[in-house]
Amino acid sequence: MVVKLEEKLMLPDFLSQKPKLKFLFTGGKGGVGKTISAAGLAYKFSEEGRRTLLVSLNPVHSLSSLFGQDIAGGKIKPVEGASNLYALEVEIEDIVERYKTNISKRLSEFLKWADIPMNPKPFIDIATTNPAFQESAMFDKMVDVILEQGQEYNVVVFDTAAIANAARLIGLSKIYGLWLERMIESRKEALSLRVKLSFRKEKVIEEIKKDPMMADLLSMQERFTKVKNILLNEELTSFFFVTLPLSLPIAVVKRFIKMVRGFDIPVGGVIVNQIIPKSIALSTTNEYIKNKYNEQLGYMREIGRDLGPLVRSYIPVYPSEVVGVNMISKVSKDMFSWIPDFLDELDL
Ligand SMILES: Nc1ncnc2c1ncn2[C@@H]1O[C@H](COP(=O)(O)OP(=O)(O)OP(=O)(O)O)[C@@H](O)[C@H]1O
Ligand SMILES: [Mg+2]
Repeated sequence: MVVKLEEKLMLPDFLSQKPKLKFLFTGGKGGVGKTISAAGLAYKFSEEGRRTLLVSLNPVHSLSSLFGQDIAGGKIKPVEGASNLYALEVEIEDIVERYKTNISKRLSEFLKWADIPMNPKPFIDIATTNPAFQESAMFDKMVDVILEQGQEYNVVVFDTAAIANAARLIGLSKIYGLWLERMIESRKEALSLRVKLSFRKEKVIEEIKKDPMMADLLSMQERFTKVKNILLNEELTSFFFVTLPLSLPIAVVKRFIKMVRGFDIPVGGVIVNQIIPKSIALSTTNEYIKNKYNEQLGYMREIGRDLGPLVRSYIPVYPSEVVGVNMISKVSKDMFSWIPDFLDELDL
């Protein structure tokens, strides 16, 4: 993997070089610590007095259990015990339902406008039972949050869903852009055909204004262009990848970085979570922990070798799971300052 040397910065220096950073994402394999890392990042910004929103796009939410308070309900809630920190769990079911209603309305309007006497239900059923439907509904919601909450908050941290989902979510913006362009072109062609047939210019302009699909497509294209420009702007957006010192999560992060770079999405860097300190391995008689520690050294070498300059942060393994604002504040502090006590032995 080719990495630029100047990328070798730890989190505090990296962030101080990006004062305009506004949209942060965490990605990685299931269960590696995406949610706690997103919360740790969000906490840091909020602590600095920046109005910060932590958003979960996961179908299975974890912010409520992470904060130990009820965040559910699809509404933005202030996080108790923290200042300037807000959280939102996007209710996928609601979004999908609303999306379905919206599409039905658009389609019915269009059929009526185009004078096609046809029941839209079969089309709606096909469109909405497509497995990609939930994903595009979620993507649409992410676009909403970027455009709306991006205005009200100084920083928005997205705790993304599983890795492939997150990549597709971003990749979709490019595909949507191309698709929309094509749709708009063909609507224009269809309209100009009507123009030729109707002869009267005023009538034509009237027609274009009345075409609900054209209006929809244009406003969708405008939204996607705006979001694409935000997502591809490395001053505003950073995608962070969380890994454990273990084979599979590392492989996933490598693959994901490649994928994301293929879309020109700015890579923020890598966060290595659940590190066993040497001091713990030395002071225990527990064989399991000792073995895990030795195994970890091998994987840390791999991380150093293949992802080294991209590593921004290390998080130690804690004696219990991460729950509550106090614990998140600890994670946040560690993310910005903790260094494993065996790094200099790795001969990197
Ligand atoms: N460094 C750590 N020390 C102790 N427990 C941890 C640590 N990191 C994560 N955990 C615990 O591991 C579990 C998974 O962490 P988290 O929910 O952040 O992962 P995730 O990548 O968001 O998972 P999912 O893919 O399910 O969304 C949680 O119970 C969390 O409290
Ligand atoms: Mg999670």
